[in-house]
Parts: sequence; C-alpha cells; structure tokens
Amino acid sequence: MSYPRIDLNGALVAITGAARGIGLATARAFVAEGAHVALGDLDEALAVRAAADLGDRAMGHALDVTDKSSYAAFLDAAARWRGRPLDVLVNNAGVMPNGAFLAQSDRIDQLTMDVNVYGVIHGMRLALPGMVERGRGHVVNVASLAGKFPIKGLAVYNASKYAVVGLTAATRLELDETGVSVSAVLPSAVRTELSSGIDYGILPAVDPEDIADAVVRTVKTRAAETAVPGYVGLMANAAGLVPESLLKVVRKAAHDDAAITRVDDTVRRVYLDRIEKQ
Ligand SMILES: NC(=O)c1ccc[n+]([C@@H]2O[C@H](COP(=O)([O-])OP(=O)(O)OC[C@H]3O[C@@H](n4cnc5c(N)ncnc54)[C@H](O)[C@@H]3O)[C@@H](O)[C@H]2O)c1
Repeated sequence: MSYPRIDLNGALVAITGAARGIGLATARAFVAEGAHVALGDLDEALAVRAAADLGDRAMGHALDVTDKSSYAAFLDAAARWRGRPLDVLVNNAGVMPNGAFLAQSDRIDQLTMDVNVYGVIHGMRLALPGMVERGRGHVVNVASLAGKFPIKGLAVYNASKYAVVGLTAATRLELDETGVSVSAVLPSAVRTELSSGIDYGILPAVDPEDIADAVVRTVKTRAAETAVPGYVGLMANAAGLVPESLLKVVRKAAHDDAAITRVDDTVRRVYLDRIEKQ
C-alpha cells in the first residue's frame, strides 16, 4: 500500500478527548510539528484552556463523540477555523471503568461501548468521505493493548478495544488504494487519570508523550498497528500461542487480576466519579 505524503507543517489535525492525558500530549506533539490542531472534549472549558496554552495553532471545542451531530459540529468548526479540509483525525476519547464483570452496571457498559466504539465509528463516518474524495488523509484510532489481550476486571473495556482493533483493520483493507490510511495505536498502561489508582504490577507503564510520539509517527509510517512499548504487542500475539494452562500460571504470578484486586479505591474514585457523571 502506498499513501500520498502528508506534510504536517500547516496540516489540519483533529483530536478527540484532547483536554487532558494522551489526547493533550498528542495535540502538543502535532503543534510541535507545525500542524494546526483542533482539540475536542466533553470538558469544553478544559479543552479551550488547553488549546490556549498551546498557542494560536490550537483551538478547543466542545465535543461528545457519542453524539454524531456534536462530532460533525466539531469537525466543521475545525475546517472553518483553518479554511482547509482535515488531514489527520485522531480518535482518542475513551473511558475505562474497572471491576469484576458481574459487578458492572448496564449504564457504564453502555457508556463504554458508546464512547470507545461508536465514538470512533461516528468520527470515521464523518471524516473519511472527504478524505477519500481528496485521495488523501489519515485516521489514527487509539485502541489499547486491551484490544489484543484479555485482562480480568476490564471485560467490557476489552470488548470495546477489540472492536476498535477489528474496525481499524477492516476499514484499512476497504480503503486500500483510496490514498487514505487507517492505523491503530495500542498503548500498554499509561500514566493518566484513566488508569489512576490501579497497580498493574509488571505490566509496563509509559507516559502520554510516548503514545503521542507513536501517533505522530504513524503519519509517516502509516503502520497498521503500533504497540507502545513495541514489545508488548509481540507479547500479546505470543500469548495466543501459549497453552492456556501455562498461560494461567504466568498470569497468576503477574497478578493478572490487578484491575480488581490491586486498586487504591480513594484515588480510583476520582476517575470513576468523573465517568459516572458523563
Ligand atoms: N491511560 C491508559 O492506561 C491507556 C492505555 C491504553 C489505551 N488508552 C486509551 O487512550 C485514550 C485516552 O486515554 P487517557 O488515558 O488519555 O484518558 P483520560 O481520561 O486522561 O482522557 C480522556 C479524555 O477523553 C474525554 N472524553 C471522554 N468521553 C468523551 C466523549 N464522549 N466525548 C469527547 N471526549 C470525551 C475526557 O473528558 C478526557 O479529557 C482512551 O481511548 C484510552 O482507552 C489509555
């Protein structure tokens, strides 16, 4: 597959869930490359403040990715702001409730699928037609290692991220030869509010800036999937080849139920309260 080059200097990039965490770090990284960046977030005030801190090559806007008309208004505002079509879309907004599957509420299950799956579908349905018409553009979906590797205490989150990995791979194939690429970035644990209060033990933790660098890199490489750190992607694939009985022993030694049992409830409550209010 070959894709027309996207010059980030002067390009228009839209990022969802960009008021904090990985989305904000990614906005900063694109601005550093000379791009104009629209930051959309449910927390409009925080998005506007974050954009103001990034300077005049950034703008903040209200966005609820679960509402297709809100998503359309965000993308329209971004295009009007720079008077040019979108070059890169980063579907980053996501929520991660944790806890035993049988203890989760229907409402939080629905929210997880609405934000993490339908949010991405809405964004792609809105942005891709213009990109295909122009024969040029790039979509990056921030999935997760949890889109390849089952984790106790994250079952519905797992389901949502497996969906994003499948959606990305299939649309990438469908768009082959249109000049438009779709890539997935698969972070391990990242030090943001979303994972706060969970002690994952041996699972490697990285910073939002590491994911931001990987997202920006995909504009150049157009790689189908980029795991961060890279070796966790290999581990997730290799785990599929290991007999279940052996894998269980390794998992147990690695405290694979951390998202249920190794949680600082006071710290975690702040994040869970935020998503429960959505
Ligand atoms: N932090 C991790 O350990 C980790 C690991 C793997 C993947 N990820 C993925 O990375 C992405 C970003 O996560 P983060 O760690 O930066 O989380 P975060 O909670 O720090 O930031 C997420 C942002 O998304 C926004 N958001 C939530 N719902 C929204 C909606 N409906 N519409 C618009 N914005 C919305 C929130 O307001 C928040 O500002 C998510 O998709 C997450 O699943 C995170």
